[in-house]
Amino acid sequence: MKKLFVHGVGKIYRFLTPIIFLSDSEPAHDFVLAMSQFLGSIPGVPKLLRVLLRISDPSLETTVDGIHFENPIGLAAGFDHEASMPRIVGSIGFGFQSIGTVTNGAYEGNPYPRIKRLVKSRTMLVYKGFKSSGMNFVLAKIKGQKWTVPIGISIGRTNPLSEYTHEAAIADIVEGFTKAIDSHMPFSYFELNISCPNMLHEISFYEPEHLSTLLFAIQQLALPKPLFIKMPISLSDDEILAILDTVMQFQVAAVIFGNLQVDRTNPAFDKAELATLAKYPGNWSGMPCQEQSDHLVKLAYTHTKGRLAVVGCGGVFTAQDAYRKIRNGASLIQLVTATVFEGPQVAAEICADLPALLARDGLKSVAEAVGVDVKWESLRGNVKNSEKL
Ligand SMILES: Cc1cc2nc3c(=O)[nH]c(=O)nc-3n(C[C@H](O)[C@H](O)[C@H](O)COP(=O)(O)O)c2cc1C
Repeated sequence: MKKLFVHGVGKIYRFLTPIIFLSDSEPAHDFVLAMSQFLGSIPGVPKLLRVLLRISDPSLETTVDGIHFENPIGLAAGFDHEASMPRIVGSIGFGFQSIGTVTNGAYEGNPYPRIKRLVKSRTMLVYKGFKSSGMNFVLAKIKGQKWTVPIGISIGRTNPLSEYTHEAAIADIVEGFTKAIDSHMPFSYFELNISCPNMLHEISFYEPEHLSTLLFAIQQLALPKPLFIKMPISLSDDEILAILDTVMQFQVAAVIFGNLQVDRTNPAFDKAELATLAKYPGNWSGMPCQEQSDHLVKLAYTHTKGRLAVVGCGGVFTAQDAYRKIRNGASLIQLVTATVFEGPQVAAEICADLPALLARDGLKSVAEAVGVDVKWESLRGNVKNSEKL
């Protein structure tokens, strides 16, 4: 009954998208965040939404590095950059959420336009560049809140820095982490974002030497909760493997594959539609991320052999998309763009359909499905996520 209801809500949303998409993306996004903040603050509303929309099923429960997830479908960083949704995100069906990316200092964001939809290509052009009111503001905003699902905080470097050096960027990121730790907010994990492709002054942490220095500095903070890293997707396999080898030298729980697609020649684009945005800078979410994200999930799962959990993020719109990533090695899933094209109930729809896909293939749980399509048998099934390093 509930499954029919969430799919019904989805059908109505999709029917209305031609009207919804008449609005500009960024004001529409801001409106949704303001509504979420408002609804989350009214006593009883999160509970009511939970009764209507949240799908629970034992096969969806999973544990990664000691964190228990009632379902594996998370809201990725970027949708809720100023933490307006943690009180309501579980009620609309998500199993977890990364708030942010929050930066230590404030930044009003890159010049407009910063978000644009391409409906045929099922993608959004993103050029926000870590718009953030800063760590102090965000922590004050969520102070005292209680959450029903694991909430992580994505932290990146402040976009305008007084000097553009690796040392200054590391000091800034460390200050952001320190404030988040000292706030004693009940974050379930910390997410380090090293992969925003929209920065005005790029300071890359993709070279092993710089990444090691950054991870060493973060390790000195003795994080009270696991560290996830948000990875780039627009690099060669060799570059990704070098990053993974560096990451495995530190206490990192999970890698997320990944961030936005840089490549405008990706075959997922409708070329005529893409041409309408040719003059705008930015990078791409949704469908143009899908194939590369699927590939990198598999690559990371195979290469790290269970030492890191892998989170699949990029072009997940349906339960089939999520299931494919899980079978490729993803222990968890994150998404943003599907909330725009499929509706805010999309996590509930995925959770409604995922158990049947598992059952069809004789799999009892998401955890059992992780990596079944990867031709690497030696460790799969022998290591529980919670037993990893
Ligand atoms: C509007 C928007 C803003 C984003 N901002 C961030 C961000 O601040 N930090 C981050 O790690 N990823 C950010 N992302 C990337 C998403 O988290 C995700 O990696 C990417 O969109 C691929 O997932 P999707 O296809 O489900 O959207 C943003 C994406 C969008 C669409």
